[in-house]
Amino acid sequence: MAAVLAALSSGNPGGMLPPGTVYVDPLAYNVLGANSPDLRNMSFSGFNPTNSTVPFFQVLDPSFLAVLGPSPTIHSIAANPGFAFAHEAPVYDPTLNVVYFASNAGGSLGYNGWYNNSVVGMINMTEVDQALADTTGDVNIQVTTLDLPDTVQMVNGGTGPYKGNLLFSTSGRALLPPSLVLANPAPPYNVTVLLDNFFGRQFNSLNDVKVLPGTDIIFFTDPAYGYLNGFRPEPMLPSQVYRFDSSTGQVRVVADHFVQPNGIAFTPDGKTAFVTDTGVSGGFRGTDQTLPATIYQYDVDPTTRSFTNARVFAYSDSGAPDGIQLDTMGNVYSGCGDGVQVWNSAGTLIGKVFLNGTTAEMIFTQSGLVILYEERIYLASIQAQGIPLTIL
Ligand SMILES: *[C@@H]1O[C@H](CO)[C@@H](O)[C@H](O)[C@H]1NC(C)=O
Ligand SMILES: *[C@@H]1O[C@H](CO)[C@@H](O)[C@H](O)[C@H]1NC(C)=O
Ligand SMILES: *[C@@H]1O[C@H](CO)[C@@H](O)[C@H](O)[C@H]1NC(C)=O
Ligand SMILES: *[C@@H]1O[C@H](CO)[C@@H](O)[C@H](O)[C@H]1NC(C)=O
Ligand SMILES: *[C@@H]1O[C@H](CO)[C@@H](O)[C@H](O)[C@H]1NC(C)=O
Ligand SMILES: *[C@@H]1O[C@H](CO)[C@@H](O)[C@H](O)[C@H]1NC(C)=O
Repeated sequence: MAAVLAALSSGNPGGMLPPGTVYVDPLAYNVLGANSPDLRNMSFSGFNPTNSTVPFFQVLDPSFLAVLGPSPTIHSIAANPGFAFAHEAPVYDPTLNVVYFASNAGGSLGYNGWYNNSVVGMINMTEVDQALADTTGDVNIQVTTLDLPDTVQMVNGGTGPYKGNLLFSTSGRALLPPSLVLANPAPPYNVTVLLDNFFGRQFNSLNDVKVLPGTDIIFFTDPAYGYLNGFRPEPMLPSQVYRFDSSTGQVRVVADHFVQPNGIAFTPDGKTAFVTDTGVSGGFRGTDQTLPATIYQYDVDPTTRSFTNARVFAYSDSGAPDGIQLDTMGNVYSGCGDGVQVWNSAGTLIGKVFLNGTTAEMIFTQSGLVILYEERIYLASIQAQGIPLTIL
């Protein structure tokens, strides 16, 4: 390891760094002085001290090389300037080799709000692979829009496939309730609403959803972004995390004390949970850099499935960690203000897919990591594989 570090920091003589990657040696940036061009005032501008051309991979720890593999690439695979069609709720169906995702709900380029719904799209990764095989550059694959019924309002989180369906958490819109829904991914795109209230009170605006491995229990976050982004009334509940057992109908709170709980993920053994808090982003209240941009880690109580032993897993240096995914090596990926940031299981920041702008979510596919970038989708072809999220 020492030899690798020495080689990396002396300009990559042994060719250890694959093309398109840059080593950002933490020791080189511990002292910047008063007038450094690398001093940042706002977390939303990225830390790119090597001036490399975006997009590229930043290596902050040699272990990130095992994530990247020998020849990582990053390509734009779909773009629609002016429309934030690719925001969150990515679901990868490995059988069909397609990715589903939702447009931005409430943001300025989403073209929705109190009066208009967002849309769910689909991109065919076989078409992406075929197009990329014919070029070394970017491609622009047609996105298909799913004609979902009006019971689905402002999809924000997604996981599965869950027993053959897409499992979405929706933020609701105006007085239409936030909900957990199962959607048929094929025509006629019929849906079943599983849950749309907490003992008679509408949720605030459900954000993200995952199923606890080894169970059928659905866990979801409920921040206040529907209200803070102007498409839901004032919150009637704390911003907290719930579990829902669709076989018994029981819904209960498993974690609280958040400013805005957002992304959620579990380790494959179901023993550890991660919840991101994007409190730094306050919608119409603006940015408050003294609030969390933090990933919390918990033990999942084996009996109650409540989240216990809350501790800080990581604080992001840029924007806020939003959606969260894990790879099979235990590394933790989150969409942040400068791209995808990756921590190892001990919470060390090991690298970034540096985009110099905010991504809210990403999903592993057979072709690599699909990164939702609002008006664009990137594919980072890397060696790491995602943990399986399909529930049979
Ligand atoms: C940070 O930058 C913003 C925008 O340029 C400016 O309004 C603010 O005063 C700056 N804050 C500090 C402490 O420099
Ligand atoms: C990056 O660019 C800035 C502005 O052009 C320059 O001041 C700085 O020296 C560059 N940094 C590196 C590491 O090349
Ligand atoms: C809502 O949709 C209508 C019809 O498509 C459109 O004219 C309007 O601009 C949309 N509103 C917003 C806030 O984007
Ligand atoms: C994806 O594209 C491939 C290649 O064109 C096609 O064979 C397949 O049917 C498509 N899948 C879906 C679900 O549309
Ligand atoms: C869609 O409709 C079919 C046929 O009625 C039904 O079997 C299936 O469960 C429905 N799917 C959902 C997600 O509601
Ligand atoms: C990153 O974005 C900022 C502001 O959006 C811009 O000023 C800067 O030039 C960008 N840096 C790179 C490397 O693209």
